[in-house]
Amino acid sequence: LSRLLRRRTKLPAYNSVDDAVSLLRHAKNIIVLSGAGISTSCGIPDFRSANGLYAQIQEDGEYDLSDPQEMFDIRYFREQPEVFYSFAKQIYPSNFVPSPCHRWIKLLEDRGKLLRNYTQNIDTLETLAGVQNVLQCHGSFATASCLRCRRRVPGTDIEGEIMRQEVPKCSVCRAEREAARAYEKSASAKGKPKVKGGMIWGDEEEEENEWGGGEPGIMKPDITFFGQALDSKFDECLFKDREKVDLLVIIGTSLKVAPVSEVCTHIPHSIPQIFINLTPVAHVQPDICLLGDADTIVTYLSDRLGWSIPPPPSASAK
Ligand code: APR
Ligand code: ZN
Repeated sequence: LSRLLRRRTKLPAYNSVDDAVSLLRHAKNIIVLSGAGISTSCGIPDFRSANGLYAQIQEDGEYDLSDPQEMFDIRYFREQPEVFYSFAKQIYPSNFVPSPCHRWIKLLEDRGKLLRNYTQNIDTLETLAGVQNVLQCHGSFATASCLRCRRRVPGTDIEGEIMRQEVPKCSVCRAEREAARAYEKSASAKGKPKVKGGMIWGDEEEEENEWGGGEPGIMKPDITFFGQALDSKFDECLFKDREKVDLLVIIGTSLKVAPVSEVCTHIPHSIPQIFINLTPVAHVQPDICLLGDADTIVTYLSDRLGWSIPPPPSASAK
């Protein structure tokens, strides 16, 4: 559609690698929209490729999920958090090294060309590569929150349980519950009235609260699950960025998950779009489509531009 509109509105047509090189050379406000395909060379499977996470979950047969996406569904998580925690250690960002793609995004930023990196990935490798202006649209393991009292803690607070494949519980909720129980005991001993409502537990059934009452205080990494809204920062940033962006580079994503996949249609159609991916994506018509391994493509483009992609951060940088 964007190409069609360009033709109608007599905008220049871009369709070759040479055009991509020239657009990158002259752009000053590039949005990079990235997905799991930029981390596969680091050893982190993507989601929907034949050897991706969803295929692995399906083949494993270990988790009785009717759809592998339930692994990241908030309703399913509330009912059976132990399923996610039996799996989470496989995707927990540990000793991965940023790919040439992550470092290419850093290169764009170092050259003053990166408006923002909208990443769908939760592996925080963009940050490890030194990218400052990255928006983790689907959250990350960097922090975790209690489903009940919403207390937020550093992600490392639940790393032990993730590695031991246990369900982490909220220490504040637990302490509150203990205090309530102790109060109830002493109160009933002295014939005092029960404490009602709020966070103090009485004997009455814990009412379902917005964060799914029931078993109080389960900690969940701040990853956006299916069924949860994205952080409002996504809309705020896109609203601002759509006025400044002069080139959109989409890299390593199947563009299957809204609202991030709709970034392409939320920026003016006059803004050229370059799509770098192993496989074509039917529902998007970028101006320039560079199909192949993303690391190889960004390295080739950088060579053509006379840029050099920085080396991986040294281990000490972690
Ligand atoms: N080079 C280029 N492209 C690659 C490479 C590579 N080395 N490896 C994989 N790809 C491509 C795949 O062909 C695929 O089109 O990257 C894309 C990854 O698509 P998905 O697996 O669907 O991952 P992504 O688009 O990031 O998923 C978006 O879905 O499940 C949710 O929250 C999850 O953030 C994720 C979202
Ligand atoms: Zn809590």
